Amino acid sequence: MRKPIIIGNWKMNMGLKDGLIFLKELEQVTTNKEVGIACQAPLLERMKANAHNVLIGAQNVHEETKGAYTGEISVELLKELNVDFAIIGHSERRTYYNENDEKINLKAKQLQANNIMPVICVGETLEQFESGKTLEVINKQVEVACKDLDIEKCVIAYEPVWAIGTGKTATTEIAQNICSAIREKLSKLYNSEQANKVRIQYGGSVNESNIKDLLDSPDIDGALVGGASLKIADFIKLIEA
Ligand code: PGA
Repeated sequence: MRKPIIIGNWKMNMGLKDGLIFLKELEQVTTNKEVGIACQAPLLERMKANAHNVLIGAQNVHEETKGAYTGEISVELLKELNVDFAIIGHSERRTYYNENDEKINLKAKQLQANNIMPVICVGETLEQFESGKTLEVINKQVEVACKDLDIEKCVIAYEPVWAIGTGKTATTEIAQNICSAIREKLSKLYNSEQANKVRIQYGGSVNESNIKDLLDSPDIDGALVGGASLKIADFIKLIEA
């Protein structure tokens, strides 16, 4: 059985004070799902020190362990802070910072070498979606980004770029079909037993009215949530859905 995992991606929002208040409330929720928060890097240490049930993660990591990369975050530091996971390959990083699947794969390997769970994001743009290229794009992303990993310990997040922050969610049917296709691809890259253990999240305008159907789908094992993870009441509704 795959344990559902809901991760709030705060992006470049939420300060230290508000973040700690949010976390305190979130810690009170009893749930059979795994719950995580990806916060801005300077918050990681304090968030981690105050988290007992909630997983705390970074929103990015550099693919090298250390060196002259001004402004970047090393996996060694994340390990020292006992960070639980890191989101890699988010579409905002792919779009604004030219991240590609080769780099994402290196990041995943660095994370796994340090026992930090990679949350690997994939997803097609609106143009690719409209021209019927979704499967081709996703298969390629998965093939490169998920190569030679301890795949069962990774989480994959399918996030159609056109659904992120737009209020347009993929229909449950589309989301399920693509998540199922991702699992099929993983079973070719690895084997079906391993692929069946991988948790695949959906992300893109997840909210309290669509989460239930998404989570009821056989191949969707959780959600990566942006906007609806910024208010504690909204986020709790998603966890309790
Ligand atoms: P959204 O963001 O829920 O605001 O669409 C999702 C994400 O970027 O992970």
